[in-house]
Amino acid sequence: MTSPFISLAPMEGVVDPVVRELLTAIGGIDQCVTEFVRVTDKLLPDHVFYKYCPELNTKGKTTAGTECYIQLLGGQPGPMAENARKVFELGAPGLDLNFGCPAKTVNRHDGGAVLLKNPHRLFDIISTVKKALPVNYPVTAKVRLGFEDKSLVQEIARAVSEAKAHRLTIHARTKVEGYRPPAHWEFIAQMKEVASIPVVANGDLWTVEDYLKCREISGCDDVALGRSLIARPDLGLQIKAYMVGSPYQGLSWSQILTGFLPLFLQSSMEFRHKQYAVNRMKQYLKMLKPAYPCAGRAFEVLKVKNTFEEIHQGLLDLQKEF
Ligand SMILES: Cc1cc2nc3c(=O)[nH]c(=O)nc-3n(C[C@H](O)[C@H](O)[C@H](O)COP(=O)(O)O)c2cc1C
Repeated sequence: MTSPFISLAPMEGVVDPVVRELLTAIGGIDQCVTEFVRVTDKLLPDHVFYKYCPELNTKGKTTAGTECYIQLLGGQPGPMAENARKVFELGAPGLDLNFGCPAKTVNRHDGGAVLLKNPHRLFDIISTVKKALPVNYPVTAKVRLGFEDKSLVQEIARAVSEAKAHRLTIHARTKVEGYRPPAHWEFIAQMKEVASIPVVANGDLWTVEDYLKCREISGCDDVALGRSLIARPDLGLQIKAYMVGSPYQGLSWSQILTGFLPLFLQSSMEFRHKQYAVNRMKQYLKMLKPAYPCAGRAFEVLKVKNTFEEIHQGLLDLQKEF
């Protein structure tokens, strides 16, 4: 069997260039995506794309060689196409269109999940974007199961497929369901039935067991991992190893504490500044907790530290406990 395609799902305010760099270096990730670039009515200047995607300086790839697509969010086909053309010209390896963002402000301004109410709008945006690009340039779409309910799942899948997107990633919840468990993988199967493009399942795939269950229910081998890959940085490797029957020992808390977290702190500081690194470290520790209960204790210790130096020292002290 071939190895499944695994992408690092986009996460605004979480999956920044540092996280992409570190997680793709661990491995098991075939593609990642930037945070969203908001498109309103005009062409954005080049520097905006470089800010969201510093990987443009390295042919759109992280150091590990993983392609990074640029994510666009907007509701107007014309400006979306104009900006898509720019993304292509700047050398990004592909483009991802966001039709799932639940944020009220975004939805009020005609972007993200609100577009799912009218699947023909997805078709219009994707096909207009595609017309501005070479025929084989990858344009992927990410959707939820609907806005308020799941009555349009097949129309949504058909619209994306007929507009000839390269791939459709489905977060198996409606906008109204937010991030509340469970994810409804069975609806992905219904969407897959009517789509003639590759479909990628997403939502609540926290472990290899979840992957196997989702695969059975959704019929998808390919998956996108979001919070779960933050919590378990080697989940992609774990899934791929399992599928080829290779033994694999997951990363221990000690490896996270002595290797991953100090590198994350340092890289976040170099990427922006010390306060950014402090905030990111606290955020990351909270997100690690589902997979590493010890991260909860580390968060309690570090949450009261306010400077980069204090956090750095706090990490060293925690390491001594192990
Ligand atoms: C903090 C946060 C930010 C997110 N930002 C985006 C985004 O910019 N674009 C997008 O398509 N999905 C976004 N998502 C949704 C995720 O990509 C993913 O679909 C969702 O978290 C479910 O997958 P998971 O259970 O693996 O986390 C975001 C999710 C979270 C938790």
